[in-house]
Formats: sequence, structure tokens, C-alpha cells
Amino acid sequence: MSILRKATTLQIMTMSQNLSLLCVFLIFSFTTPSTCQNTANHDCKTKGMFVFGSSLVDNGNNNFLTNSLAKADFSPYGVDFPLGPSGRFTNGENVIDILGKKLQLSDYIPSFTDPSTWGGKIVNGVNFASGGSGILDDTGALAGNVTSLNRQISNFEKVTLPELEQQFGNNNSKEILSDFLFVVGSGGNDYSLHYFLGLANSNVSLEAFTDSVTAILSAQLKRLHELGARKFVLMAINPNGCSPMALARVPTQEGCVENLNRASTMFNSNLKSLVDDIRPQMPGSNLVFVNAYKILSDVISSPRSYGFRDASNSCCEVRQVSEGGTGILCKRGGSICSNRSEYVFFDGLHPTQSVNDVIATKAFSSLIGDEVYPFNVDELSQI
Ligand SMILES: *[C@@H]1O[C@H](CO)[C@@H](O)[C@H](O)[C@H]1NC(C)=O
Ligand SMILES: *[C@@H]1O[C@H](CO)[C@@H](O)[C@H](O)[C@H]1NC(C)=O
Ligand SMILES: *[C@@H]1O[C@H](CO)[C@@H](O)[C@H](O)[C@H]1NC(C)=O
Ligand SMILES: *[C@@H]1O[C@H](CO)[C@@H](O)[C@H](O)[C@H]1NC(C)=O
Repeated sequence: MSILRKATTLQIMTMSQNLSLLCVFLIFSFTTPSTCQNTANHDCKTKGMFVFGSSLVDNGNNNFLTNSLAKADFSPYGVDFPLGPSGRFTNGENVIDILGKKLQLSDYIPSFTDPSTWGGKIVNGVNFASGGSGILDDTGALAGNVTSLNRQISNFEKVTLPELEQQFGNNNSKEILSDFLFVVGSGGNDYSLHYFLGLANSNVSLEAFTDSVTAILSAQLKRLHELGARKFVLMAINPNGCSPMALARVPTQEGCVENLNRASTMFNSNLKSLVDDIRPQMPGSNLVFVNAYKILSDVISSPRSYGFRDASNSCCEVRQVSEGGTGILCKRGGSICSNRSEYVFFDGLHPTQSVNDVIATKAFSSLIGDEVYPFNVDELSQI
């Protein structure tokens, strides 16, 4: 019931502001590896991944949260996933799942909130990401019960790290964690579910808001470094102004919704700079910026060259704002396109597995500085 009330509030707020297009649950989760069969392969150096962020990387954490609106634990989500609907916000695997395979991790990374995630299950990493959450603690309040980035890092520190030390029989977290990747994919919701809904100080400019969000993220990364994290993968925010959700709200507009993309571009530019700026303050660390914005924009501007047919409609039937939805999530049990590989977007905001594959492949092995900076995840994993 409170979920319905929140949905209505969200709907009214989003309708009342043309910039509020982005009620995004950009949350991802990650999957982690286990043992590496091919020990001659240098990639086996990476023992696993710890994943923090929003729906783009969430692999099911919100399934276990009561009163969360940001859930993807129902059909048609997971229609192409071996285990069916799992809480991943796509038809199949997300970017983390695919990255984990490239790193030769033997299994999907477990989600933190799953009660069965403990003991030996955590030795290849844990995914803390929560759909609808943000870098700011307040972001996602309209999506109900979600776990903010600060809370995700606390969960890592208070719960997972002591368990990990026990598993490895080693209380020196710096030794344990140096062979793990720390993937952080957050920020989209701080615009969609916060700034553009008018929840920030009404007087703050987009530039000032972006600088303050970046400063908070920078402190969060330093906190992870203090806990022993050494290898970071920072995911850019997607071009959300080109999503079906954004296009549906400004139907007359040609092309993508500009101010949403401008916000993403501004944040991403700060994030890329952070790679160089923060490193001297985090001894022994290496960071990679993955420009998912650029990769996805290229797919959207020439879908056919990547094998896609439709770059503007969602594959699933979305519950629109006029129907009491958010324009983002699929309708429960709703219809879907027959060939998911032809679509860029699975729902109103989240890419299909085929697009996740493009992003993860480029993140792992691209040699183009506009896509990965200063090098790719494969190189990071070998350091
Ligand atoms: C969120 O979900 C967790 C797990 O079910 C629960 O313990 C907590 O009380 C919930 N918080 C809110 C604000 O509903
Ligand atoms: C790690 O620290 C805990 C608590 O201080 C201690 O009980 C345990 O014996 C230590 N383990 C090792 C392997 O040093
Ligand atoms: C907004 O900023 C202007 C200029 O800094 C200031 O004069 C005004 O009082 C502020 N308004 C609010 C509501 O904070
Ligand atoms: C689905 O679409 C992809 C990409 O356009 C294409 O390669 C594949 O043959 C299609 N599959 C079917 C069953 O039509």
C-alpha cells in the first residue's frame, strides 16, 4: 500500500517537471568468480569482484528488501537468464556477469542481501549494488527501500570484510583485497531520482550539484582504499536522455533529451578526471574509467553496425506513467519482443544483454582511450 502511495507521488512529481524524466533505477550488480581452471592464463590473477552501485549492476539485492519499488524479480525480466527472473534489470546477463566470465571467474557473484551469501560463498566477491540507489544517501527514497552507496560500503566493511578475513585466515585486508576488482557503477539515480525531481537545494546549479556528488564519491572511494581496495573500475553514467523512458516523456522531441545527457556528460567528465586526481591520494591503487556513455551512444547512433534493429523502443511492455508506473520497469507478465538481440533497450531504461555484452567486451579489451581510460580491465586485472 505504501508502495502504491509512493508510486503515485513519484508519478505526480515526475509529471510536474519536464526534467524529471529520469526516474532511473540504474543499478547494477556484479557476479564474481571462483577458481580459475587455466592457471597459465594471467587473468587468473583476479580472484573476484566486489560490486557497488545501482540497477545497472544489481544482481538481486533488492529481492530481499521489503518495500522496495525497484525490483526486477518477476517475468519478463530474466527471460534469457539461465535461472529466470533473478533481480537483474535485463533479459539475461548484466555487465558484471559478462565481465566475470571474461575474468574467468567460475560463477556468478553472490548478492549481499541473499541469506545464503556467507562462508565459502564470498571468497570470489560479493555484489552490494541496489537498484534505485545513489551516491547520495537520499537518492532513491521515492523507490522505497534501497541501499545507498554509503550503506553498501558499510555492509562491505562491517559484514563481508571480517568474514573474508576469517575465510582466508588472514587479518591483513590489504593482502587479501589486492587481487580483487572493486567495480563502482552509481550516479545516474542522483540525477534521475534526485536532482531532476527537484529534491536538491532548489538553487543549486547542475555544475555545483555535479561537483558535490563527485566529491562525495571521491570520499567513498578513499574509504574503500583505506579498507584495502586497490583496483577500481568506475562505470560512467549512460546517455539516459536517449532511453525509451526519456523519449516517451518528450514525444515531440527529435533525438535524445538533451539536459539528461548533459548531466551524464558532466558527471562522466568529472569521473574521468578523478582517475588521475585521486590516485596520488590512494597509494598503490589503479583505477579504470569505463565510458559506457560513449559505448552506448555509438550503439544508439548506428545500431545496425552492431547488429541491432531497434534503438529507441523497449523490448518489454513498460508500465507507463499514465498507468501508475514509472516508464522504466516492465509490466509484470507483460509481453516482450520475440528477438531480444535486435533491441538496445530491454525496458524503459536498462539495456538488453546484447548491449551489456558490447559494454563488457569493450570494458575488458578496448584499446580506445575514449572507451576505457587509461587502460582496459584486462590490463588492470594483470597488474
Ligand atoms: C528494508 O528491507 C529490510 C529487509 O527486509 C528490512 O529489514 C528493513 O526494515 C526495510 N526498511 C524499510 C525502510 O522498509
Ligand atoms: C584475526 O583477528 C581476530 C580478532 O582480533 C582474532 O581473533 C583472530 O585470531 C585473528 N586471526 C588471525 C589469522 O590472525
Ligand atoms: C538563490 O541564490 C541567490 C544568489 O546566490 C540568492 O540571492 C537567493 O536568496 C537564493 N535563493 C534560495 C531560495 O536559496
Ligand atoms: C535475432 O536478431 C539477431 C540480430 O539482429 C540475428 O542475428 C538473429 O539471427 C535473430 N534471430 C532470430 C531467431 O531471428
